[in-house]
Amino acid sequence: MRVLVVGSGGREHAICLQFSKSSKIEKIYCAPGNGGISEIAQNIDISISDFDKLTDFVKENNIDFTFIGAEVPLSYGIVDYFEAKGLKIVGPSKNAAKLESSKIYAKEFMQKYDIPTARHNSFEKIDDALKFLENWDKNKKIVVKADGLAAGKGVYVCDGREDARSAAKQIMGNKVLGDAGTSIILEEYINGPELSYLIFTDGISYSMMPASQDHKRLNDNDRGPNTGGMGAYAPAPLATQKLNKKVETDIIRKVINGIKAEKLNYKGILYVGVILNNSSPYVLEFNCRFGDPETQALLPLLDTDLADICGAVLDRKLSNIKIDWKKEFSVCVVLASGGYPGSFEKAFEIKGLDNINCKYTTVFHAGTKRKDGKLITSGGRVLGITSTSDNIKSAINKVYLNVKLVSFKNMHYRKDIGKACLNDNYT
Ligand code: GLY
Repeated sequence: MRVLVVGSGGREHAICLQFSKSSKIEKIYCAPGNGGISEIAQNIDISISDFDKLTDFVKENNIDFTFIGAEVPLSYGIVDYFEAKGLKIVGPSKNAAKLESSKIYAKEFMQKYDIPTARHNSFEKIDDALKFLENWDKNKKIVVKADGLAAGKGVYVCDGREDARSAAKQIMGNKVLGDAGTSIILEEYINGPELSYLIFTDGISYSMMPASQDHKRLNDNDRGPNTGGMGAYAPAPLATQKLNKKVETDIIRKVINGIKAEKLNYKGILYVGVILNNSSPYVLEFNCRFGDPETQALLPLLDTDLADICGAVLDRKLSNIKIDWKKEFSVCVVLASGGYPGSFEKAFEIKGLDNINCKYTTVFHAGTKRKDGKLITSGGRVLGITSTSDNIKSAINKVYLNVKLVSFKNMHYRKDIGKACLNDNYT
């Protein structure tokens, strides 16, 4: 089979690498891809939003199915567009992708299907939001969320009334997030550790992946600004069998029942971001695709052919296959350009990748490109390095030994990815 993967980050590199291990896949294309993806796939220079060019390319090259990595084309309806042309594509329809692209829709869905989540109010007018906040305690935390897609920048955790008023003004008044902030949610603040629960689903049945944990803040000990993710590990020791069962019963099954009841066309990946409070899981967010960097930790553990899983999802026969995961742990550390998530310089040569021992370690490229025979930086998150082992401590040790072999000017990475797992209460 021939497959087209749409996207250009570490997540898409992990997806392409998984397809490259499949005995069923003879050719991988990636639009637009990156410097690392080009080693295992043919990068094609088509924008992820140019559905006409993408469908023409798929037809001309007899591509059997397309796999969407990123959320933006899903929110624009790439699945509906491909399916209208009779092309197979893994991902949710535009309506189904609203679970990610509209936080208000997601909240209404959760209320309707009795899925635990923080209490909230939604607002279409800034005056109404500010009026609501007049009665808010000046020191009580509250979360302000933009309704639309905001590339990870749409959530403001505010310390109290004035902070929240200022966030609402920034989002709705100054339009700092553009149209994503036309409406907002004001949400009760819940404190606790977060877990990422991803599932494969064909809209009828589902298969849960090992729970993972992302590190969103830029610096060690969860300090500094939020980023797209500075590292991840899986399976998260915090996700005990008991908790996984509770998440499955209280959340995942209800989401699938809701998808069926609403007749949503959902064939792909659903990411449920969960926060734990007093051991009870609450949904923070839905994403309608693989997470990044979670995918760079998860897919090296997958022990079933991803092409077979996609085939089962596309045929709505996911319940017919058994999906296996290696009984190992993986840890992914993201190497970023100094300055990210703010402005940063690019085009620095990346050195040392040849020194990496690839037996238990994989290098995923995110912001790289090839120029004059050299690999150079081209984005904020540059590389994700993942090591696997039979225990998490050794996976952490291995990954950092390998991280130290790589360098580029102004390279920044967190030194504490997975460290929380080493506390006594995690072991
Ligand atoms: N790791 C968070 C996300 O993929 O949105």
